[in-house]
Amino acid sequence: MLTHIRELINDAIKNNYAIGAFNVENLETTLGVVRAAVKQKSPVILQVSERTIEYAGLKAITTIVECIARDEAGKIPIALHLDHGRSFRSVAECIDAGFSSIMIDASEMPMQENIILTKQAADYAHRKEVWAQGELGAVKALEEAMTMSQRKPFMTRPEEAKEFVEKTGVDTLAVAVGNIHGVIKLRQGANQELDIDRLSEIHQLIPETPLVLHGASGLGPAQLSAAIKNGIRIVNMNTELKLEFIGALRKNLHQDPDAYDPRQVFSPAIEALAELVGKKLRALGSNQKA
Ligand code: 13P
Ligand code: ZN
Repeated sequence: MLTHIRELINDAIKNNYAIGAFNVENLETTLGVVRAAVKQKSPVILQVSERTIEYAGLKAITTIVECIARDEAGKIPIALHLDHGRSFRSVAECIDAGFSSIMIDASEMPMQENIILTKQAADYAHRKEVWAQGELGAVKALEEAMTMSQRKPFMTRPEEAKEFVEKTGVDTLAVAVGNIHGVIKLRQGANQELDIDRLSEIHQLIPETPLVLHGASGLGPAQLSAAIKNGIRIVNMNTELKLEFIGALRKNLHQDPDAYDPRQVFSPAIEALAELVGKKLRALGSNQKA
């Protein structure tokens, strides 16, 4: 059974840890993440993007997550979330499909337009008892904003974060504090510096709002724990998982070019993914919390 995200976050707040929000695309990556959570006795958020919905179909991916949550996860709380919803329409479709949390990402718009679209999505979500996440400031990819000083203009301004949360009514807020999306940062081994002072200021102004750290692939345990100490309750990871899964798949195919059975080829990749996610859950301190 899926659990409402509210229950996961409330426990994380009470016990000072963060919930991992991991992107899944299909049966195999869902199995990898869920098996790691079961092994670590950890609550977990499974999130899907609009691209995954296009790829797999909303009904198919929702059903896969629901079935695995019911059949493999036992008592581990699993919540289903829409990652980076760009339109009211995709938000509404996910809410109607049974997600307990959606993100409306209008972070590329000017603040007042971001507020209007985010409030519209949050109001609709709340009528259906679903949580809404907004983003203020914009979490860029490394190719868009290379250096910390180039990223600064896109970072979340603490006083605006307070106004944004008050005007939109979002339940959780994604912040830009130096964090970066995408594969380039990992391929270039870029050091993702986090502006912890800025994060701390945001948290002090809106202490009741759980903060979300996007772009967390590649962050080390010390950075994650500094973020968690300053109000981060959800940590989004996607790219590192994809690299691990596909890397294992590639290695496996290379080692055994005659392999033809999808189960034989995918199983080690599922295991490799589960191993990585297990490590991440321990770094977030969510292990043994379910
Ligand atoms: P990464 O690209 O660092 O994995 O970011 C994931 C993310 O923010 C998903 O919303
Ligand atoms: Zn993101």
